[in-house]
Amino acid sequence: MKALITAGGRGTRLRPITHTNNKHLIPIANKPMIHYAIEAVIDAGIKDIGIVINPDTGEEIKEALGNGERWGASFTYIIQEAPIGLAHVVKVSQDFIKDEPFVFYLGDNVIVGGIKRFLEEFKKSGNNCHLVLAKVKDPQRFGVPEIKDGRIVRVEEKPKVPKSDFAVTGIYFYDHHIFEAVNNIKPSWRGELEISDAHQYLIDKGYKIGFSEITGWWKDTGKPEDLLEANRLVLEQIINSKESKIKGEVDKDSEIIGKVIIEEGAKILKSSILGPVIIGENTIIENSYIGPFTSIYYDCHIKNSEIQYSIIMEKSKIIDIETRIEKSILGKSVQLMKGDSRPRTYCFILGDKGSIKLI
Ligand code: DAU
Repeated sequence: MKALITAGGRGTRLRPITHTNNKHLIPIANKPMIHYAIEAVIDAGIKDIGIVINPDTGEEIKEALGNGERWGASFTYIIQEAPIGLAHVVKVSQDFIKDEPFVFYLGDNVIVGGIKRFLEEFKKSGNNCHLVLAKVKDPQRFGVPEIKDGRIVRVEEKPKVPKSDFAVTGIYFYDHHIFEAVNNIKPSWRGELEISDAHQYLIDKGYKIGFSEITGWWKDTGKPEDLLEANRLVLEQIINSKESKIKGEVDKDSEIIGKVIIEEGAKILKSSILGPVIIGENTIIENSYIGPFTSIYYDCHIKNSEIQYSIIMEKSKIIDIETRIEKSILGKSVQLMKGDSRPRTYCFILGDKGSIKLI
């Protein structure tokens, strides 16, 4: 059994963060998103992993993940020349997969509880293709199955009128018949080889296609609000599984309430932290309030400010911001500060698609 994990794509819905970062390295609870996919696959006992990258953003991924040794696994990097569809990702990976069954895992999907159960159900079922489904409020954003008498009879990609309230999640199990499908389908109206069309091909040819349902939570981190939700959900899990872990320094004038992780070298000075919260290595929090569901990555400085339900990436500074910051995502080395010159003006240096809401 092998695994294929995606780390390419355009990440357009997460701009401006993805102008300079590969989406899969955005931290969720202070850990690059793609680590969750890697760890789920390894936890299911799969060590031979292909990671699919595009030429423009792939180097960053290679540098960040290495050869898999760190996880006791072996990574093979597979180049997809351009992001022209998930079925195309499978197509270009045929030499790596060969005839083996495999799990195809989208590197921007985060689930809690792992994939062991789904892998076992796939193996037991003898299915040629086994999909993992989740009930969602907005199926039109996803691949959607039509289910009749407990069987998938149709799969449509982002349908305007969904035939069920299930999404096909980004966790798929296949045997080698998927290659027949991806080598025979045609590009869709948007010019992509769609994975849903490959599934439809298998159904039309009479191959066995089954499914499992996710009962816990699952997130496709397509949009900024999904990142915040994934961050919240992972923080809740971490916090449930571990006691507060304070490796950094907390001075006597600070207050820590609830489950909080403070990593090595971090300093909490005259501040109040209400968990679940994670504070990264060497970050300094001074005279500030950090509220629930906030992740602050390493080497940040927060002073005289209040933040909750947010993701702050490495080396960012938030100084003297009087109004509480909420539902915010800050990229690397972002600076938010209050100036003291007159006249009092706002001064912005913002990249394309930046977004600021002022009161
Ligand atoms: O998350 C589940 C959904 O994923 C499914 O319900 C849909 O059927 C499926 O098409 C897919 O839809 P998305 O619109 O969310 O796919 P996205 O373009 O965001 O790409 C998903 C992952 O695959 C992400 O890790 C980027 C990567 N990718 C994508 C394409 C199109 C590639 O590496 N190469 C590609 O060509």
